[in-house]
Amino acid sequence: MIPVELIRKKRQGEALTPDELQYFVNGYVNGNIPDYQMAAWLMAVFFRGMTESEMKEFTRVMLHSGTVVDLSSIPGIKVDKHSTGGVGDKVSIILAPLVAACGAPVPMISGRGLGHTGGTLDKLESIPGFRTDLDIPTYKKVIEKIGVVMIGQTKDIAPADKKMYALRDVTATVECIPLIAGSIMSKKLAEGIDALVLDVKTGSGAFMQEKDQAIELAQTLINTGEAFGKRTIGYITDMNQPLGNAVGNWLEIEECIRCMKGEPGNDLMEVTYRLAGAMIYLGGRSTSINKGEGMARKAIESGAAFEKFLQLVSEQGGDISYIENPSKYKKARYSEEVMLGGEGTVTTIDNHGVGLAGLVTGAGRRKIGDSIDYTAGVVIHKKIGESMQKNESIATVYGNNRDGVQDAVQRIRKAYRLSDQKVQPPKLIYGMADKDGYKDF
Ligand code: URA
Repeated sequence: MIPVELIRKKRQGEALTPDELQYFVNGYVNGNIPDYQMAAWLMAVFFRGMTESEMKEFTRVMLHSGTVVDLSSIPGIKVDKHSTGGVGDKVSIILAPLVAACGAPVPMISGRGLGHTGGTLDKLESIPGFRTDLDIPTYKKVIEKIGVVMIGQTKDIAPADKKMYALRDVTATVECIPLIAGSIMSKKLAEGIDALVLDVKTGSGAFMQEKDQAIELAQTLINTGEAFGKRTIGYITDMNQPLGNAVGNWLEIEECIRCMKGEPGNDLMEVTYRLAGAMIYLGGRSTSINKGEGMARKAIESGAAFEKFLQLVSEQGGDISYIENPSKYKKARYSEEVMLGGEGTVTTIDNHGVGLAGLVTGAGRRKIGDSIDYTAGVVIHKKIGESMQKNESIATVYGNNRDGVQDAVQRIRKAYRLSDQKVQPPKLIYGMADKDGYKDF
């Protein structure tokens, strides 16, 4: 085959055959197709899309570019969750041990921060000693022993995605439904799951800012999961403001610890309970999503979820004394309150701006390979619909770099809009999709 002809074919809006997809994607992984040809093809896909069967084949080729883990020797229906990413989205850290505490095994492969969004791996690695780079035999041992494991994409898991993802990140080809679907589903199908719950975010801090796009992405992901024989359901959830209050790695772990210890619930826990209910149901541990949600609430109240989290941290090399006593963690050198100087109700938050504020404190990366300041980030005190008085603090910014902290303060100030009108907070969970379609709540 001639690579340039396959690029031309896609540029003209035609579908590639399974053999052509295999040739092109595998050629890229083994170095026969250079970055510039793959970049041109990705941009052609960005504009021309893929047919449903083409997307399924594309996912299959990406999946089989590496190892497909077999967890069939481990009893139970293995279930995972995937979020399309957001600001302050720390759900996985609570959800994985919570669902495992309710009896459904959770093998989870997560990602790093991307652009303005945070990543579960970076958050977990802020726990001293915690290792996310387990090899596949150890990954299997941990899930077998404690029912939950949380690692990063190894070199063996969907290497085509790993290489293409890095290229998409620098060629403006991330926000493309068939490419996102192939990327997410190849990783998820490789980890050995039987069922999957998706959290597709929409709003100013999400990759899919419009709800209609989020629904389309959810349905594409669901169709792909079901085509591979995995029961898949998805929720469309709000990302117009950070989930919970903390944005930044250790700050988010601290918030998760408080939630797992049963601190009065907030929006973070409402989303977590719903996703947990769906996972417990798909994992065969309850007869309905609502009953699963009830089980999840009890596992937080009883301390079972927190206990499972301690086991997870300890099993993956983390120092549990920081989980038992988070106040012993080192503190950022600088902290600054953000004042708006006005009063009124918070009407909107540019959540992309809040994500970037977190990034410039040192909590995220400006370029691949940058190191992360785990103590840095932002804690917001006011959410949409809440009123505030003059000189009340809207957020606290933390960091070890004074300029970064100042930059973040300005970004947070710009991100908030106040008015003297009352506004309702945005809906938290807009609706649910499964193989039969989407329903608004
Ligand atoms: N997350 C992924 O894993 N892949 C994408 O393409 C987008 C978000």
